[in-house]
Amino acid sequence: LVNGELKKWTGKTTPVYSTISSTADYAPTLLGSIPFMGEAEALEAVEAAHDAYDNGQGLWPTMKVADRIKCMENFVSQMKSTREEVVKLLMWEIGKTLGDSEKEFDRTVEYIYDTIESLKELNSRSAHFSKVQGIHAMVRRGPLGVVLCLGPYNYPLNETFSLLIPALIMGNPVIFKPAKHGVLLISPLLEAFRSSFPKGAINILYGRGREVATPVMQSGKVDLLALIGNSKSAIALQDQHPNKNRLRLILGLEAKNPAIILPDADLDLAIQECITGALSFNGQRCTALKVLYVHESIASEFNTRFAAKVDELKFGNPWEKGVMLTPLPEVEKPNYIQELIDDAIAKGAKVINAKGGQKTENSIFPAVVFPVNKDMRVYHEEQFGPIVPILTFKDIQEPLNDMAESNYGQQVSLFGKDIKTIAPLIDTLVNLVCRVNLNSSCQRGPDVFPFTGRKDSAVATLSIHDALRSFSIRTFVASKDN
Ligand code: G3H
Repeated sequence: LVNGELKKWTGKTTPVYSTISSTADYAPTLLGSIPFMGEAEALEAVEAAHDAYDNGQGLWPTMKVADRIKCMENFVSQMKSTREEVVKLLMWEIGKTLGDSEKEFDRTVEYIYDTIESLKELNSRSAHFSKVQGIHAMVRRGPLGVVLCLGPYNYPLNETFSLLIPALIMGNPVIFKPAKHGVLLISPLLEAFRSSFPKGAINILYGRGREVATPVMQSGKVDLLALIGNSKSAIALQDQHPNKNRLRLILGLEAKNPAIILPDADLDLAIQECITGALSFNGQRCTALKVLYVHESIASEFNTRFAAKVDELKFGNPWEKGVMLTPLPEVEKPNYIQELIDDAIAKGAKVINAKGGQKTENSIFPAVVFPVNKDMRVYHEEQFGPIVPILTFKDIQEPLNDMAESNYGQQVSLFGKDIKTIAPLIDTLVNLVCRVNLNSSCQRGPDVFPFTGRKDSAVATLSIHDALRSFSIRTFVASKDN
């Protein structure tokens, strides 16, 4: 989709496979193919977005907020009719369970409606600064320019749209490249995008990052890079921009969210929350619990019960009832998890659940690894997959020191009952991460909550309200009281 036109593709294509297999030998299923685009198409998209912006004078950035909202309403009403197809593709392309795929679709529709409401509110509140020294200021929010938007494979719809929708509705023309996995599911939405927005406002490119995103950045015509994924890609893309100082960034990156389980924690609750926190969608969430700190006085009981519960989790295809663990879209992931297990074992840990590390062709059963120490790769690396490292602590200062030393700072889960212990801890934790979850696992939602992180975990803040601010700039009219 470039410059308001759905181009017919006659060039080279790339096949898209699913790791879900319908055959006994686990042969990957061919789902379809996508155009293999390159520099020419990338530059066409950049020109279209650049012209649509026209230094802030184009149709889209100057359109009245109420009219931009109408375009978005038109889009979302068309999008709703694609539910069945998109949900099916979410299951096949990334292995997300039926329930979670439906949730992802519905959450995205709701996200768009809530964004519209939030923008109406923001707009009607065009702040009137109180008069200072006889000068009034009427503040508005204006677009920032051309946005390159890249989303992650684990939420190819919801999280991608948590960048794309606010970017667009604030008047910024967008160039969007879908993730490698979760790419086909964008196709049913192309016509809705085409018919809802003026030409050049939204441009969609298929292809590999280095083939299309690199030339887009090298053109120097991108004003804002919006990416949810890994810092390596974010840094590589920033480096391609000829004028890095001018490039704005909205980034959602890696995290290594810990859970801290205090001696008086409700163990049933802590175990349940740590299981969903660490292993829902096979641990492929930036918000997943990626390391557990259990107080030494309860470690033996926690570990035994946690390991047994993990072994009860059901593995299967996404549409099967009661399934939580599914085939992994990244075919190399089971080997990577195995490497982490081997490294931890070589350095003195054990896999403490009976099924941990059992492999099939397209997955690996979650491994609970204990006792983990700082020499192990699984302590440092963001596993983004089915492995749960456990450490014990004697003094609460130990996990706090680790968090302070960590390169990440997104969220933490704290399990305990005594408010006298918890309250001062919260004051410390909020300066180490951005969200403290009390007796519950880490997560991004509800989408009205600010979503961000410290250090290498994020740049800027997302959420229904915050994203509208992150994707815009405050401008104002000052007038003298005369
Ligand atoms: O991958 C990171 C996502 O933001 C996780 O979102 O907490 O809603 O699963 P979630």
